[in-house]
Amino acid sequence: MMKELRLDKYLTEMGEGTRSQIKEMARKGRILVDGITEKRAERKIDPEQHQVSVDGRPVSYVRNEYYMLNKPQGVVSATEDSRYETVVSLIRSRKRDDLFPVGRLDIDTEGLLLITNDGDLAHQLLSPKKHVDKVYFAQVLGELPPDAKERIEEGLVLSDGTPTLPAHLEVLRQGKEEMPSEIRLTIREGKFHQVKRMFETLGCRVIYLKRMSMGILVLDEALMPGEYRPLSEEEIRELKSHGNTLRAYL
Ligand code: URA
Repeated sequence: MMKELRLDKYLTEMGEGTRSQIKEMARKGRILVDGITEKRAERKIDPEQHQVSVDGRPVSYVRNEYYMLNKPQGVVSATEDSRYETVVSLIRSRKRDDLFPVGRLDIDTEGLLLITNDGDLAHQLLSPKKHVDKVYFAQVLGELPPDAKERIEEGLVLSDGTPTLPAHLEVLRQGKEEMPSEIRLTIREGKFHQVKRMFETLGCRVIYLKRMSMGILVLDEALMPGEYRPLSEEEIRELKSHGNTLRAYL
């Protein structure tokens, strides 16, 4: 049996209105449970047993939602913002109103972002102790020092004295002059502007940044920036059981 919850909570979580609006709707006889008018908004519902409808429209209950978003530039990793569009508002087919991004990407960073309302999973993935590895693709201006790989693998010290854990660098294309280098970097933590600051320490500048993966979760190549899809059952299961498995390079 799924945990029971109040009818007003059920409908509020599914975005049907505020608690007081639901109460009013119930009072007016607009809500049915198993085909029978239910006027008590506080009535307990078992989402697996009961059929709830509003104005004749069935409203099923979804406890957790999980979406993979290819975050576009210009959108902030937040649930609300007064100036910019948020990553959560891009998930147009969401059912719940309590979704949030698991971690943050800068406004000008693209790529993989998990959007969910599963706080336990978010905690597992973000906990610094778990060392979930994140793989980034970047274009970098300025000449990479010849010992860049070794320095990154030993762990850099950022300009403000913050040490970073050992990470892994692959140079995909060595740039020169105006042509940026292309790299893949795997890090196990998520300090503020970490990738950009690591390259600053090496005397370079990140001009394009995209997250490719987080733990076992890999950005779906079919998703253009701004597009999203629900995670598969298998992805959800794997994330929960070993979200912190090292993906490849460390
Ligand atoms: N590192 C950064 O500098 N920015 C991001 O958005 C993610 C990692």
